[in-house]
Amino acid sequence: MICLGIEGTAHTAGIGIVDDEGHVLANAIDMIGGESGGIHPREAANHHVKVIPELISKAMAEAKVGYGDIGLVAFSQGPGLGPCLRTAATAARALALSIDVPIMGVNHCVAHLEIGRKVAGCEDPALLYASGGNTQVIAYAGGKYRVFGETLDIGIGNMLDKFGREAGLGFPSGPKIEQLAKQGKRLVDLPYSVKGMDVAFSGILTAALQLKKKGTPMEDLCFSIQETCFSMLVEVTERAMAHVEKGEVLLGGGVVQNKRLQEMVRIMAEERGAKMFVPPSKLCIDNGAMIAWTGLLMYDSGTRMEVDNTEINQRFRTDEVEVTWR
Ligand code: ATP
Ligand code: FE2
Repeated sequence: MICLGIEGTAHTAGIGIVDDEGHVLANAIDMIGGESGGIHPREAANHHVKVIPELISKAMAEAKVGYGDIGLVAFSQGPGLGPCLRTAATAARALALSIDVPIMGVNHCVAHLEIGRKVAGCEDPALLYASGGNTQVIAYAGGKYRVFGETLDIGIGNMLDKFGREAGLGFPSGPKIEQLAKQGKRLVDLPYSVKGMDVAFSGILTAALQLKKKGTPMEDLCFSIQETCFSMLVEVTERAMAHVEKGEVLLGGGVVQNKRLQEMVRIMAEERGAKMFVPPSKLCIDNGAMIAWTGLLMYDSGTRMEVDNTEINQRFRTDEVEVTWR
């Protein structure tokens, strides 16, 4: 069976086409642009309305499939921004009804983990999911995906982007901060905020902006932001791995494209005798292929949804998902 997956939780609209062996036949992505980076949910939704039809055509051409080949339509049901989620859901319902195939709503966070498990080749990892809007450590335990640690305020990517916006770096700022950090020499003091298994980033943002005003060089600031925030992430990931006794760590979300973060997680994993897995970039960021693949896992294990029961869920929690496929 072939599934077409529609992603649209935030900035990115994505259409992925995947077969039931997990081959990604197409993965078309379009992210709302703009130098400011501040996301306006309505504008992002309008962007998705505009690009989703084009992305469907593009993905189908790339996958060399026609409508008759698609056996399932999956979409990102949550968590995310209301207007964006509604747009993706509406597109999915319209497509599923018009080609008369079943529909499947998918949890976006679980999808990051499942595509990683499939393409990166790990079995039972702890996922460090670090993106713009989300920062969580997720692992499978007691029949569910559970969140072992998460941000208490903003996602790490949003923090990097907000700092970058104030500092005039443009959007997205994460890659620019990574480049500047390479020239940083001095580690300046920023509030390292780990509370139990959770992390917080807004204090670091405030402190970094104050230091910038006082003339601390950007290179040193970027270096220090990375070292501090990434150490926090590595600490809670390690604690979760120890707690649930996982020998694998998987990375997901746009921020994990950062090479310094990868290096720090790799060192932590090696020191514990564990292994790190990183999916290809286009499957780390928000994408439709992960939604399609997770939809297929759900369908194959007997989950069914009626169009009438495909309401979006802006606060769809990872542990609310009934994991029928493991
Ligand atoms: P989600 O809805 O899952 O929260 P998102 O829309 O924020 O996702 P992603 O595509 O997963 O999107 O990630 C985008 C974020 O990744 C941005 O905040 C961007 O600054 C950050 N980012 C991208 N590349 C890097 C990098 N090399 N280093 C650090 N951060 C990065
Ligand atoms: Fe995401």
